[in-house]
Amino acid sequence: MKYAILNKKIKNFKIDNQSILKKDIVSFYWSKKNPIVLSSILDHFVEPNQTIFDPFLGSAPILFSIDANKTDLKFIGTEINEMPLSFIDFNIKNFSKDELQNIKKDFISFYRDFKKFYEYYSPIYDEKIQLKKIIFDCVKDNEINIKEFHLENGIKSFLLKRNNQKKFLKNNEIYFENFNYCKNKIKNIDLKLIHNSRIAVKKNMKLSTIFNPINFFVLSEFGKKFKKNRVMMTILASILHLCRLTDAKSQSQFPYWVPKKNIVERNILNLIYRKIEELIKNKDKNNLNLIKTKNFSELSKSGKNIYILNKPIQKITNKDIPDQSVDILITDPPYYDQVAYSEYLKVWEYFCNFKTNFKDEIVVSNRLVNKKNLKDYLDSLTDAFNLINKKLKSNALAIVFFKDSKPVNIHYFLCIMKNAGFNFIRSLHVGKSKYTYKQNTTPDTTVTGDCLFFFSKNDNNNKKVNISLLDKKIKVDKEEIKTEVKNFVQNYLESNKKPSLGELYDNGLIKVLFEKNLLYKINNSKIIVEILKEEFPNFR
Ligand SMILES: C[S@@+](CC[C@H](N)C(=O)[O-])C[C@H]1O[C@@H](n2cnc3c(N)ncnc32)[C@H](O)[C@@H]1O
Repeated sequence: MKYAILNKKIKNFKIDNQSILKKDIVSFYWSKKNPIVLSSILDHFVEPNQTIFDPFLGSAPILFSIDANKTDLKFIGTEINEMPLSFIDFNIKNFSKDELQNIKKDFISFYRDFKKFYEYYSPIYDEKIQLKKIIFDCVKDNEINIKEFHLENGIKSFLLKRNNQKKFLKNNEIYFENFNYCKNKIKNIDLKLIHNSRIAVKKNMKLSTIFNPINFFVLSEFGKKFKKNRVMMTILASILHLCRLTDAKSQSQFPYWVPKKNIVERNILNLIYRKIEELIKNKDKNNLNLIKTKNFSELSKSGKNIYILNKPIQKITNKDIPDQSVDILITDPPYYDQVAYSEYLKVWEYFCNFKTNFKDEIVVSNRLVNKKNLKDYLDSLTDAFNLINKKLKSNALAIVFFKDSKPVNIHYFLCIMKNAGFNFIRSLHVGKSKYTYKQNTTPDTTVTGDCLFFFSKNDNNNKKVNISLLDKKIKVDKEEIKTEVKNFVQNYLESNKKPSLGELYDNGLIKVLFEKNLLYKINNSKIIVEILKEEFPNFR
């Protein structure tokens, strides 16, 4: 599509999708994209039978949108880590009622063997019932101070607190008996984690720290028993984040972080059982009607075909995906140090046996093994987008989700895209999910929502820009930036009400600052917020 036509088409793009999407009842992942946004993109930009490519597939929410789309589409996805791909297989598989019941049966035999670790005295009757969860504090290392036992007998729930002294002490004793038994069992199988304070992995920290010994032991036995059963491993993968110690609402997305107070330790057998029950009830109506092909050439057969490769994008060969074969790129690459995917996925690798890959991952991380600095990240992202560009047909459209609170990081990204042969057309603000980053947590400078960057493949790209890393001592000319910000915002306010910082950036300010060669000087948004407050007193 020609640049001017594309530009007009993008201007008319709105997120107002009417398709009824099936529910993703199994996958868990970080930075999941909204399938409604993806469906709107498909409806507006993709023609029947076109081939879509997502080289950073993750949990593939786009497959739900492709399933709901009225026409046949072809899809290629690559992903370096195995765990999110297991969800795809699960989502497209039609299980018979018997198969689902057999999964339940297999699990129940495991349940029977391990339920003893979750049996405690009822606060009222003299009988043992099932544990739902324990709430405890652990302010000093290894000093567990249980505050509440939440129990259930299949009909009713019971809360046992310290004031019911006799029963509480009895249960406390049972807990520590189990704790010490399991601690002994796991001492030779525990995994030493790779130190990285950025993601809360302390020096010499063991994997069991985030589970406590009872759940760690039961999970490792589950992993051992069902190692070869990919379906069971996928079910576990979908709830493993809840099996670790969490805060009361399981809000933290950081797998290695454990709070010090009101820590929740759950009965993981119940978690798995409930997930299986949910699947038995809902799986049938949520199956994706997609066909997984074994190679690229099978994609062209009639139907909604998908071709998924568990490979780093840098290693994709011409045999895997031929050059000039893709009509449209829709992707969400890793954003610098925001999510340490492979490091997080070590937990899933350990229990579910899904392989991770540190070596080829595109990320910024100061982990001790395969450390990746900013330059490594930019170099590998460059290699990736150079290769991706080759896979696209002439003038193809590329839609890339990208977000970072540091404007200079967007500058590097846009330079990489330019060097790889992509013309930057415009960007667009969508969605409401909140992004706060460690280095930048004041509400003013927080950027919210997703940003879509639109590019078209430029076949005659010879000119390369030099990506030199920001020199922190660089003198920033505030007046120069002020002129551009003022002009842009004044114009913007003529047709838009009270925009947030993220909206201003995504709906054009980033582009203006990039084209005026100012973006690379802006390390954080403070200077922009200062200008906005000085020039536009109503800016929040
Ligand atoms: C921002 S996430 C994509 C999330 C996805 N949009 C979703 O909704 O689930 C980026 C993905 O890129 C993957 N990744 C990192 N390096 C890669 C590489 N070299 N090749 C392919 N995938 C890679 C990560 O494992 C991660 O799943």
